[in-house]
Amino acid sequence: MTADNTPSSPDVTPEGANSAYAQAYARWQADPEEFWREASGAISWVRAPSRIFDPQEGVYGRWFPDATLNASYNAIDRHVDAGRGSQPAIIYDSPVTDSKRVISYNGLLSEVQTLAAVLADLGVTQGDRVIIYMPMIPEAVIGMLAVARLGAIHSVVFGGFAAPELATRIEDTEPKVILTASCGIEPSRVVAYKPLLDEALRLADARPAVLVFQRPQARAELVEGRDHDWAGLVERAREAGLSAPPVPVKATDPLYILYTSGTTGKPKGVVRDTGGYLVALAWTMKNLYDIKPGEVFWTASDIGWVVGHSYIVYGPLINGSTTVIYEGKPVGTPDAGAFWRVIGEYNVAALFTAPTALRAIRKEDPHSKLLPPYDLSKLRTLFLAGERADPDTVNWARDTLKIPVIDHWWQTETGWAITGNPVGLGVLPVKAGSSTVPMPGYDVRIVDEGNNEVPAETMGSIVIRLPLPPGCLPTLWRNDERFRDGYLSEFPGAYKTSDAGFKDRDGYIFIMGRTDDIINVAGHRLSTGGMEEVLASHPAVAECAVIGIADSLKGEVPCGFVVLKSGVTDNPADIEKDLIARVREQIGPVAAFRLAITVGRLPKTRSGKILRGTMKKIADGQAWSLPATIEDPQSLDEIAEALKSHGL
Ligand code: COA
Ligand code: AMP
Repeated sequence: MTADNTPSSPDVTPEGANSAYAQAYARWQADPEEFWREASGAISWVRAPSRIFDPQEGVYGRWFPDATLNASYNAIDRHVDAGRGSQPAIIYDSPVTDSKRVISYNGLLSEVQTLAAVLADLGVTQGDRVIIYMPMIPEAVIGMLAVARLGAIHSVVFGGFAAPELATRIEDTEPKVILTASCGIEPSRVVAYKPLLDEALRLADARPAVLVFQRPQARAELVEGRDHDWAGLVERAREAGLSAPPVPVKATDPLYILYTSGTTGKPKGVVRDTGGYLVALAWTMKNLYDIKPGEVFWTASDIGWVVGHSYIVYGPLINGSTTVIYEGKPVGTPDAGAFWRVIGEYNVAALFTAPTALRAIRKEDPHSKLLPPYDLSKLRTLFLAGERADPDTVNWARDTLKIPVIDHWWQTETGWAITGNPVGLGVLPVKAGSSTVPMPGYDVRIVDEGNNEVPAETMGSIVIRLPLPPGCLPTLWRNDERFRDGYLSEFPGAYKTSDAGFKDRDGYIFIMGRTDDIINVAGHRLSTGGMEEVLASHPAVAECAVIGIADSLKGEVPCGFVVLKSGVTDNPADIEKDLIARVREQIGPVAAFRLAITVGRLPKTRSGKILRGTMKKIADGQAWSLPATIEDPQSLDEIAEALKSHGL
């Protein structure tokens, strides 16, 4: 590392100054390579790393450039070899189908070896891409691990996305095979996946092999010559005694691509390397989450999100722990006691979820009447991420569960927490509203527009000085240029997180919101720019603006303002309904786009920039002042009126 890159101290005082955390951070500061060399000992390598970091490779350097390993071997085989074969690896709990299943490490190995053999038979080899479009069932995780076993690259697409979003990902990754299921189950309906996939393949004009896991709730029609019955092929492979061994890959080879919202409708393909990722996850399982091999770790998210990749699948499994795959919601499946039931039933040691799930539980059961029947004595910690954890929710959870409630901040791009409270090293004092302190590996700075650090308690852009630690994205899929432009160019020498916030005098970091047009709806990251593209493509719409407005349950929900073209005679209410349907069809139900409001004009500056920030303040009932550069002051009154007439 150059002198310029000498990490700044997180300045944790007073309680934390001599903490194990401060010591660990100082150890990393003093010798980052030695820190990660030591951490790499938790992973089983085929060829152990002799070089830890090469600043000359890749866009900003690469971790463990000469090492080789296999992720599936690290997640399964080595635990079987070490005598954990009969221990549960996966607990599947599905209140929406009224089913439960426990898969041991032995069982998981057998399932993954066989499915990997099926995939190999379909032509999948090292470096090929496989898309996984599946609900929260064990087969989805088995699919991920089988792909990894072959040294191929998986790309999981969240089930709540519509066909065009899936099509974009198919076009970008060019998968050899797609793994899917006949349906997903939402409390209100059975979601048939196959018609969505068929439509996506038509839009992308692609014809990969498709492996369909048939579920009894809705069976899928198979297309002759393209689609295969999952269970049938697995059964045949098993009868033939087929089994695929783990293929060693370079530590720098991609394990997966995970798409996330950018500022346009075209999502960004975040690449995750294999070696650095496993090293970082292993470090966090012990030091951040304090989970031992054999303990149960439950991440109530979805494998379609980064949180699911890291802490439903790879983190707990490489740690030899037991992971819970929960196919249900925090409320309504059947009630707001569902999380407490799962924790009690399986002796969950730590729960990781999004604040929105707690808000949903609290709304239904504010006095926790549904808690007492369950034994939560094994639950040591609650971790929250995905969106800002509002102090009210954090305090409610702490008072309800009487355990530390830990907010931690990260992004799809980083793959693991940038800031957090490392429980395994000794929990630091919790400050509600703060995601605590930078993890070793992250040199976090709060800067102004000129890339100069701002004083404590001052808001600024949050950046991470390069290099990023192991596990963070080395680049975007086949797009180094977009990676450089989008993340590394604005603040030279640093990665731009696109989050804004501040550090307090104890070095605690407070994340206050995004600096771009990304919004967080129920912990799901969405692009308002992408929604605007859908609205703008409507023939009646002249211009539009989508903003995220505060919502007591989901944190934020999108709200679209549209100006109709002159001469349009259709009833605005009908157009608004049509716009809502279009966003659902083109982006997906997960966007939760339910508010389209027709206005006569949009508030703009004299140079034509839409005043989205002021519109948001008005919608959220916050104090706002008239921007000096506004072209037409009355346009803001019109926005306020329109919101009022929609009951907002
Ligand atoms: N497949 C298909 N559709 C899906 C889906 C999936 N995997 N996940 C969600 N959807 C649909 C829902 O059915 C819903 O559709 P609807 O408009 O027909 O009702 C829509 O997408 C929005 O879903 P959701 O965000 O789940 O909202 P909700 O109102 O149904 O439930 C919460 C609200 C708070 C209970 C829910 O958002 C939740 O559990 N959030 C936790 C989020 C989380 O874990 N995030 C991960 C980041 S760590
Ligand atoms: P995703 O890539 O989907 O994980 O979303 C990442 C974004 O979610 C971050 O850039 C933040 O804006 C937000 N986010 C995630 N965790 C937190 C947190 N603990 N506090 C505040 N915002 C968060």
